[in-house]
Amino acid sequence: MTRTTWPTTGLSYGGDYNPDQWSPETWEEDIRLMTEARVNIVTLGVFSWGNYEPEEGRFEFEWLDTVFDLLHAAGIAVDLATPTAAPPIWLHQKHPEILPVTREGMRYWQGGRLGWCASTPIWREQALRIVEVLARRYAAHPALKMWHVSNELGGGNRLCYCDESAAHFRRWLTEKYGTVDALNQAWGTAFWGHRYVDFAQVLPPRDSETVPNPALKLDFERFASAALLEHFEAEAAVLRSITPDLPITTNFMVSSNPSVVDYARWAPRMDVLANDHYTIGRDDAREQELAMSADRMRGMRPDAPWLLMEHSTSAVNWQQRNRAKLPGELVRNSLGHVARGSDGALFFQWRASTAGAEQFHSAMVPHAGTRSKIWADVCELGRHLDALGDVAGTLVEPASVAILMDDESHWAWKAGPKPVNDEPVWKAARDVHRALFDANVLADVVPPWADLSRYRVVVVPGLFLASDDTARSVRAFAEGGGHVLVTFLSGIVDATNRVRAGGYPGAFRHLLGILSEEFFPLLDDGGLALDNGWRAGRWSELVHADEAEIVARYADGDLARSPAVTRRALEGGGSAWYVSTELDRVALADLLSGLLADAGVSPSAEVPSGVEAVRRVGDDRSFLFLLNHGPARVHVPGSGRELLTGRDVEDGLDLDAGGYAVLRER
Ligand code: GLA
Repeated sequence: MTRTTWPTTGLSYGGDYNPDQWSPETWEEDIRLMTEARVNIVTLGVFSWGNYEPEEGRFEFEWLDTVFDLLHAAGIAVDLATPTAAPPIWLHQKHPEILPVTREGMRYWQGGRLGWCASTPIWREQALRIVEVLARRYAAHPALKMWHVSNELGGGNRLCYCDESAAHFRRWLTEKYGTVDALNQAWGTAFWGHRYVDFAQVLPPRDSETVPNPALKLDFERFASAALLEHFEAEAAVLRSITPDLPITTNFMVSSNPSVVDYARWAPRMDVLANDHYTIGRDDAREQELAMSADRMRGMRPDAPWLLMEHSTSAVNWQQRNRAKLPGELVRNSLGHVARGSDGALFFQWRASTAGAEQFHSAMVPHAGTRSKIWADVCELGRHLDALGDVAGTLVEPASVAILMDDESHWAWKAGPKPVNDEPVWKAARDVHRALFDANVLADVVPPWADLSRYRVVVVPGLFLASDDTARSVRAFAEGGGHVLVTFLSGIVDATNRVRAGGYPGAFRHLLGILSEEFFPLLDDGGLALDNGWRAGRWSELVHADEAEIVARYADGDLARSPAVTRRALEGGGSAWYVSTELDRVALADLLSGLLADAGVSPSAEVPSGVEAVRRVGDDRSFLFLLNHGPARVHVPGSGRELLTGRDVEDGLDLDAGGYAVLRER
């Protein structure tokens, strides 16, 4: 049962606050500037364990008491982190066995941050001890409004191959399979004669001279995600026992790429879903990538707002070349997340560090101080989020399209040699989302077990692993009148990472009315022509369209004249499309526009190209977010009150290049 008490009134605004890097004089200035920027929440103490407890059992909390009181006096809520994202030096020295071990068998050293293995009992004991000390000290403080468990769990310590992990893995496998024969069957251990006679023989996929069993590897990834969730749950249980009414969250790392741990399976355990999102400087569609990550967050729980826990005011420091944001960009990015369901916008971090590993990462107060583009934008965003207070608690209007995405499927794809080993199969999901984004059609990016009955179109893009349940659910959706689009390399293996024999794509073959007998990946990027004028590339398949109409055939290449794109009309009015190649952007947009028209799905609003339009709605309220990502000033139709300027709009409004507006619609 999750508790949904939101930590602030209105939308949340703030960031990670690390006062232990600064003097008390700076704290006073921080509070003054936070008030000026209209910050209403900070995430406190994420990496502060070593400053709370510099030596075992000797605590220094007075500085944090002062900061809590200063924040409270200024009306700023505290999202208090449990400090387990950074064990103190003394703990690593006393118990180096808590440090993760690589697959080559090397144990890490002190000096990083998530330096712990989730399976080590001494770590668990120490972590829960500090959590309890912290929770007891601040439980009654009126500024405390939410718990933030650790930080980006798995962002560095996801896979540990130590003996404790191995033992934990074996316990997990015993529970999952019951008998070692069931494990042998699931993993196909007859291959290379890797048969086990006892669970005690099983090891994590440690380094060897060849690749490990792909089914073992997939289960190890699942186990690693489960072990971290178990750690989250253990911390959360301590917090719940002391502050039963406070919501608990942890910050996910959801982007358009697959995630390091299985957040969709974690989501039900969170009171508030929170995400960290950073744009990638070299990405050629940053806004769309941002939108897709937000659509994934919402897809995990479409009926509640989520929270953007971190993003950056400008450049980060961990890409090869770190791009600075242009004036207004941080505001536009924040509004993009809010439009798609975040009830706030927080940053890493409040004040730019001058020392330490993140000394060149942007922040709300940059090194230059307040005479800066960043500070001007930070203050502007604070005013805007204030003006958007009534948006809080509303939901993004229901999407008609669902895109299925599953981290397990990606792990299965990565778990062994494949027909192509240089290409990410999940790129198909990004391509489809991008085409929909360009057409202003809202999609929820959902896990395969989501309730599909709320959608009219379901896209299955490169979903390599599809369980029997997924196959059944997609089929039931289509037979109930829904429209399904399956793209190549979907439904190839089952939940054990075993190939579904009898023709590809095994999980969806009957629904699609086709049989694909062999893969023909292209060796170069020369591209392919289809006989209806579409262009494609990179991948092709020898497909038989047994019970489907042929929409397009290959016009050249090894498979000339054989089916490339098929469509099967279903009795209930639905349809099932198969795309056996990578369509280019024009072709994919064309295909989707026909499919969406068949399904009766229209854009969120009629706006000029380059403008992103998303609506949030409440019982008696409707807000249209408009973001102009294009290079020119455009006129956007609409009427109502524009909340960022407070002006009434009758006949639409003009949006500058990079401009944004939020219409409270009549
Ligand atoms: C992550 C972490 C933060 C910080 C940022 C830098 O999101 O949670 O502590 O390191 O990355 O971008």
